[in-house]
Amino acid sequence: MNIIFLGPPGAGKGTQAQKICAALNIPQISTGDMLRRAIAEKTPTGLKAKSYMDAGGLVPDDVIIDIVRDRLQADDCAQGYILDGFPRTVPQAEALEGIAQIDKVVEIAVPDEKLVARISGRRVCLKCGATYHVSMLDGKTTCDACGETLIQRDDDKPETVQNRLVAYHAKTAPLVDFYRARGKLATIDGDGGMEKVFADILEALKA
Ligand code: AP5
Repeated sequence: MNIIFLGPPGAGKGTQAQKICAALNIPQISTGDMLRRAIAEKTPTGLKAKSYMDAGGLVPDDVIIDIVRDRLQADDCAQGYILDGFPRTVPQAEALEGIAQIDKVVEIAVPDEKLVARISGRRVCLKCGATYHVSMLDGKTTCDACGETLIQRDDDKPETVQNRLVAYHAKTAPLVDFYRARGKLATIDGDGGMEKVFADILEALKA
């Protein structure tokens, strides 16, 4: 299955994409992770993307569409994938229609007031992409999966988070109607425990 995860920053797209990808044995394609790697490696794409990401805005459509088009050519995408964080604008969604056939779009819905607390407590592993919340780390500072030191993302500062929420509502939320009109949308309540959200997404994918 070719799947899109849609939802505001902090909704749990990355957390759930990792779990569903492991369950279905398909790759997680996170444009945010790809851009963060490009920035760390100082590639031309990374240098272009950095100022937009630091400000909490969106990277220009042409940059991101090229990255995704290339990634979807890889052999590991042949049996399906989860797009986590793409598309994020109507032009990106329209471009994707010329690149791939999408089977299902899962919207993970969480009220804005919950998102800020989630994001400010998030810690991530830049090596393997695992995501944690400080409330579940019990003082630990390294990744359970690979042992790397966990960090707080640069764009998880409160002022940047507000800009990301504004960008989501202005540019990405219209995709809910875009995919509903195509009969592909399943909306999941993301404001529950991680295991409940996981079970609800699996159920929606089976349907
Ligand atoms: P990206 O990395 O995609 O960030 P995002 O969409 O803002 O999403 P997040 O990673 O913040 O949240 P998430 O939904 O994955 O939540 P998570 O699972 O981590 O993009 C970053 C930037 O890159 C963008 O701002 C933009 O500049 C650029 N970019 C990327 N793609 C682009 C595109 N297509 N076009 C243009 N620009 C692009 O969970 C968050 C926290 O909550 C964690 O601590 C987690 O442990 C916790 N949590 C998760 N689930 C639950 C739960 N059920 N209950 C309680 N806590 C939970």
